[in-house]
Amino acid sequence: MYALEARHLFKNYYARGKKVEVLQDLSMQVKRGEMVAIMGASGSGKTTLLHNLSGIDMPDAGEILVNGKDLSAFTKEELALFRRRHFGMVFQDFQLLESLSVGENILLPMILDKRDGEEQACRLKEVLEMAGIEGLEDRSITELSGGQKQRVAIARAFVQGPNIIFADEPTGNLDRETAGHILRCMLELNRKTGTSILLVTHDKHVASVCHRVLRLQEGGVEDELF
Ligand SMILES: Nc1ncnc2c1ncn2[C@@H]1O[C@H](COP(=O)(O)OP(=O)(O)O)[C@@H](O)[C@H]1O
Ligand SMILES: [Mg+2]
Repeated sequence: MYALEARHLFKNYYARGKKVEVLQDLSMQVKRGEMVAIMGASGSGKTTLLHNLSGIDMPDAGEILVNGKDLSAFTKEELALFRRRHFGMVFQDFQLLESLSVGENILLPMILDKRDGEEQACRLKEVLEMAGIEGLEDRSITELSGGQKQRVAIARAFVQGPNIIFADEPTGNLDRETAGHILRCMLELNRKTGTSILLVTHDKHVASVCHRVLRLQEGGVEDELF
């Protein structure tokens, strides 16, 4: 069984009366513990694919299976719960809440799931360490550098022990050196925790350290051979 499997996905947008065909009969698989890069030209549909695979959006047709479970079988509420428990999300623009502290941002999925306070404290300590941001839990998000913000987002993504992390150009807003630190952090967590990671990037170096690279082209994906 795959950690993630997409079968014959189709997705179009309709903008000002015009149809934009994005995903056209796209099928792909991610194994447990695999770190897979998705590359492709700007506008080729990388973000659309990630949004569909992670349940943020729904495909027009096709199936998405997570550990063999079909996402379309869930109600809206079940899907929200499933996503919080099993998926972690990391975005280019971090998507942190500035009105909450670092610790509160990281714990948000557990707070929404009404997890036990002691369990929250224990996991917070663990993921702060995993992401290399021990001691920052009471800081305000606005006091952090870009690299620190992305580490907070990574800690949040891992806090519930997910099966798969979806990352959309996670190093796209960072300088080269910081991007390298963030990439190494994600690689190490992939190795240590066995969490599958699906990572969109247009950086060849980032892609080259992943286990496998898929190139999105004309609505489908192909394995990229270096
Ligand atoms: N909400 C939307 N409505 C209409 N068109 C969209 C929408 N989102 C994306 N698109 C279009 O779909 C195509 C793929 O977009 P996207 O998935 O963001 O590509 P990428 O992440 O590879 O740059 C682009 O042509 C984009 O303009
Ligand atoms: Mg994109």
